[in-house]
Amino acid sequence: MKKVYLSLLLPLFSYSMIFGESINITGTVLNAGGGPLKDVTISLSRVTGISTKTDSLGKFVLLSPSNVIQVSSLNPKTLNFGVKGRELIFYPASGNGNVTVFSAQGKQLANQGFSGISPQRLTLPCFAPGLNFLRVTINNTIYISPIVVTGNTVYLKTPGSTLKESAGPAKLIAASIADTLIAIKPGYSDKKIPITSYTLSGISISMDSIVTCNATTLKEAGACRSNHKMLIGVAISPGKLNDPNAAREFNYVTPENEMKWQNIEATEGVFNFSQSDAIVTWAQQNGIQVKGHCLVWYNQLPGWVTQAKGRERVLGIMKKHIETVIGHFGNKVQSWDVVNEAFITDNRDGNGNAQMRNCVFYSEIGPDYIDSAYTIARRYADSHNMKDLKLYYNEFTIEAENDKSRFARKTIKEWVDRKIPIDGIGLQTHLGPPYNLPTADMMRDNMQYYADLGLDVLISEWDINLCSGQISKEQQLKLYHDITIVCVNQPKCIAITFWGLNDSESWLNTYSTTLCNGANSQSLLFNNGQKKDTYYQVLNGLNGK
Ligand code: XIL
Repeated sequence: MKKVYLSLLLPLFSYSMIFGESINITGTVLNAGGGPLKDVTISLSRVTGISTKTDSLGKFVLLSPSNVIQVSSLNPKTLNFGVKGRELIFYPASGNGNVTVFSAQGKQLANQGFSGISPQRLTLPCFAPGLNFLRVTINNTIYISPIVVTGNTVYLKTPGSTLKESAGPAKLIAASIADTLIAIKPGYSDKKIPITSYTLSGISISMDSIVTCNATTLKEAGACRSNHKMLIGVAISPGKLNDPNAAREFNYVTPENEMKWQNIEATEGVFNFSQSDAIVTWAQQNGIQVKGHCLVWYNQLPGWVTQAKGRERVLGIMKKHIETVIGHFGNKVQSWDVVNEAFITDNRDGNGNAQMRNCVFYSEIGPDYIDSAYTIARRYADSHNMKDLKLYYNEFTIEAENDKSRFARKTIKEWVDRKIPIDGIGLQTHLGPPYNLPTADMMRDNMQYYADLGLDVLISEWDINLCSGQISKEQQLKLYHDITIVCVNQPKCIAITFWGLNDSESWLNTYSTTLCNGANSQSLLFNNGQKKDTYYQVLNGLNGK
């Protein structure tokens, strides 16, 4: 076993900064014409929460905040430790204590207690990629060390040195990009600069002003930039096809229920496409793309599927369903949510015990039902003249920073690493306080993470529930605007779909387990066919304003 041991873990006394690896990045931001740009927000992708702004000369200094590394150089006690994979190993003489992981700006990410004497072997809790701090407390003495997480591997940072790998091949380090510097200014395209170190000076960044448009419908605004066209979609049902806003404003639709298993194959082997065909025919007549929703999901399944037993039997059922449904629509449906909502947490805010959801596919086939579902779909599409078909994974409450979003990032990276043929991630974006209220920054970070994996990103089922006034209308308007801008600024963000047309038709008003339990949601862009203020926030955002 290869282990790297570090000493120099320091008790908390005074406030001097002593780690050579703290953040210190300086530079200048200019507009494309060469002039300095003031008030550009500079931040890092992997170190959340720290940011600075450029001054009137376009200059910035990004430092790790002094309250993060409040350590003393006076008679430090040391504690040796090692990390292998996610296993932390150390040798306390005796005692009780706990292990805590903090982000670079001092936010507690995870905490875990231990008791007993040496050696201690703990599996490190899940925490965010990038620079973090590990704190071990034993008998009231606090020890701290910076650590870095890249993918699933924990790296140690020693004072004044480069990254030290704790497990895995050494070449990973030399090639690795430490982080991404992000420059943001309203009216300008976000700029992302890969950096190899947290101590850099004299970086020069040039920013282009954003292309603004004056489109008057959502779909035209989404398509107004030739180098980044976004589809603008809506959940639809056959009863809504005549709503004039549907075809006027949107060029992408997701059938709200009609393609779900219980509606298409309620009885084994008996396929009923009448409702879904009505939507697809209408979409074709109106030049609208369709996202099929959804092939493999734990919910809205007929009893004969949920009761099925045995790996081969359930694999067979799943294969027949995927191939028949994809095959029926052919190229009239351009993309599919192949698997929907495969993750679960104990709490509805996305925290507690993030794991794979136990459904019939998981329990009978095993965790590799994901691999099978995508492989079946891809093989069938490619061998039936549907090579352009896009295959997506769709999930809720992975927009904010929580256990579920961390689990999603880790798990989806594993899927990509093992070459599961997946093209994109749908962030459902059912937002509602207090359970799921990401900031636009968190959305940006999550989108960037999936974009960096090479995946497309979609806002796939957007609504923002007011939850009977738990957030104000102003907050709702700002979120609709700022998150739209995040998508405009992310080249891999290819579509935004709203989960319904009119407020009165939203599933949030009636569905019993939604966020806020059916409280007066006022969550969408239209009310009785009229455009709401929310509509104009999204339209402005799409127009780059
Ligand atoms: C909802 C529909 O909007 C409701 O009409 C239906 O009763 C339940 O399902 N995540 C999804 C969607 O992926 O399929 C769900 O749609 C909303 C949550």
